[in-house]
Amino acid sequence: MSNSLLKQYKEKLKLLDKFNKHYYQNQKPIVSDKEYDELKSEILKIEKNYNFTNLKSPSVKVGYKPSKKFEKFRHRVKMLSLSNAFNEEDLINFQKKNINFLALDKNYEFEYSAEPKIDGISASLNYKNGKLIKGLSRGDGEEGEDITENLKTIKDIPLSISHSDFPDEIDIRGEVFIETNDFKKIEKDFANPRNAASGSLRQKNPKKTELIPLKFIAYTFGFNSNLKEKKQSDFIKNLDKWGFKISDLNKTIKGINNLVNYHSNIEKKRFTLNYDIDGIVYKVNDFSLQKRLGFMATAPRWAIAHKFSANYSVTKIINIDIQVGRTGALTPVAKVKPVNIGGVMVSNATLHNEDEINRKDIRIGDTVKIERAGDVIPHVISVDKKLRTSKSQKYIFPNNCPSCGSKTIKEYNSTTKKIDAVRRCSNEGFGCEKISIEKLKHFVSKDALNIEGLGKKVVEKFWDLKFIKFPDDIFNLNFKKISELDGWGPLSVENLKNSINKSKKLKLDKFIYSLGIRHIGQENAKLISEFLKDYSNFINLKDKHKIEELSNIDGIGETQINSLKAFFENKTNLMVTKSLGRILTFEKNVIKKNKGVFSNKILMFTGKLSNISRAEAKSIVENNGGKIVSNVSKKLDYLVIGEKPTSRKIKIANDLKIKILNQKDFEKISKLGQ
Ligand code: IVH
Repeated sequence: MSNSLLKQYKEKLKLLDKFNKHYYQNQKPIVSDKEYDELKSEILKIEKNYNFTNLKSPSVKVGYKPSKKFEKFRHRVKMLSLSNAFNEEDLINFQKKNINFLALDKNYEFEYSAEPKIDGISASLNYKNGKLIKGLSRGDGEEGEDITENLKTIKDIPLSISHSDFPDEIDIRGEVFIETNDFKKIEKDFANPRNAASGSLRQKNPKKTELIPLKFIAYTFGFNSNLKEKKQSDFIKNLDKWGFKISDLNKTIKGINNLVNYHSNIEKKRFTLNYDIDGIVYKVNDFSLQKRLGFMATAPRWAIAHKFSANYSVTKIINIDIQVGRTGALTPVAKVKPVNIGGVMVSNATLHNEDEINRKDIRIGDTVKIERAGDVIPHVISVDKKLRTSKSQKYIFPNNCPSCGSKTIKEYNSTTKKIDAVRRCSNEGFGCEKISIEKLKHFVSKDALNIEGLGKKVVEKFWDLKFIKFPDDIFNLNFKKISELDGWGPLSVENLKNSINKSKKLKLDKFIYSLGIRHIGQENAKLISEFLKDYSNFINLKDKHKIEELSNIDGIGETQINSLKAFFENKTNLMVTKSLGRILTFEKNVIKKNKGVFSNKILMFTGKLSNISRAEAKSIVENNGGKIVSNVSKKLDYLVIGEKPTSRKIKIANDLKIKILNQKDFEKISKLGQ
């Protein structure tokens, strides 16, 4: 393609962006629909003739730019995601864990409700006295956008329900999607049916939503009052009776073998269905067991999504590169001869770590089998040794970090008592360029500061231009300089400015997580933030003794403590953390529901409990407003003792005059809370 044509193409894209802005954000079109459509088809024509596309093109970007003007509302019951299983072994583990959690017989067979996992957009519909009041998108799971008017245009969603057994108030949840047949008609405007559904749902103009035939299938509930059903399968039956569409593939199943059979049957007919599904969801059918199993940080214990299998292809390794991650981990990546795997061109595949290369004896020049499953990074499965030639080269893992030259090390893991499979750059954080860039990307990412408009590519660009070096530099960006960059119009600069400003107010746990401290993921960041309560206590961790106090949190152990010590010992980390403390403001920690029989009480367990797992006991205490610790101290309210308790702990508790409960006492009190 000639340079002048490329220039014309880019100008057309820019113009389309301008039209979009006026139409979707200002709600005031500046051209007729005809002119708009013409411009769009000119762009698509150039792309087709020259077989390429651009990230800003209407062929890639969701056709309609979602507006940012929807009002946000909190979900009364969070909208969580599901853990994934990829094979039978994962399912066996899922079941085993639940059997252990509930302390059931090891041969116990759960009954599951098996349901297709529809690949659409989830929505939550609030009904009061049979009337649809509000419809929210999933959002970040805690807060969704009010898309009621758009949802009301979907014919599958009943506006009023008059059955006497329909709960007085309930949030009905399900998937909004587009059927394959309907998608064909608008295919050229969207990357896939899921994007089409998402774009249509978040239209500011419900009339536009109406033009794209969306469907809705219901499968679960959020907040509810007086729900009478005892099982998921009964609930689904009632959804049908109340007038919701349900999947006709739902089935109750017992036994892992039968789950696997069902999975492979549906997988075979997957492409004959009129909607996209990407796996099967198995839910423990009995609601009382679901309630006991409860939730982990982002997903329920009682359900799992069994994904359909991946696509494979065979290609050749041209070279092996090393990527340095945020925590210094060196990940070898195979650069392969580009190959089409299930419709996606793949030219990189992860080799995970040094041990994996040795174990599979992977060499440069080898012919390898590569797998790609959904949005998971492609990886090398095996080497075809028969096709190995004398030109193949063994890969020598670098002893020095390719980014900063520091020595690379393999650590000893005191929990597993093994040497780590992963080799790491020994530089502490900001001293290594690649680690710094990854730290910045993590800092702005969705689960951390969530700065929209500061994606990975932008971070890299700003780094190259020396606009940012440390996370706090983000708050001192020179927007004038940014507006002079190619591709940065006034609108995108303004948007970036706004999202940076918005990110300045956040919860302490998001901040702790954003620092990217090793072994402090979202879950641990939450635990620490609940314990410390505010920023000043967090920054006081620069005093080592204060860090030790965290070992009192159930879930924080030696690994986390050591990692925090290493973090605070590093002067740059301390400087950045303090500087951020001056820039950011922290939202008050929402006091966690601490109503219940253990309200504000601190408990500790010692010894084995019978018929109930420690994990379930912990969840009972927390659901009843209490907290669990792992050291006896003055602050402790109850020490609960099971079989073979540690006598030293009982002695200290007695000395401190702490109330001691046996399992029966504990259960009696817990029952009062039900
Ligand atoms: S139940 C607490 N059932 O999968 C879990 N989800 O990764 C509630 N999905 O956000 C979800 N089909 O959008 C459930 N039959 C089904 C589903 C389903 C599709 C989606 C849903 C959810 C995501 C979880």
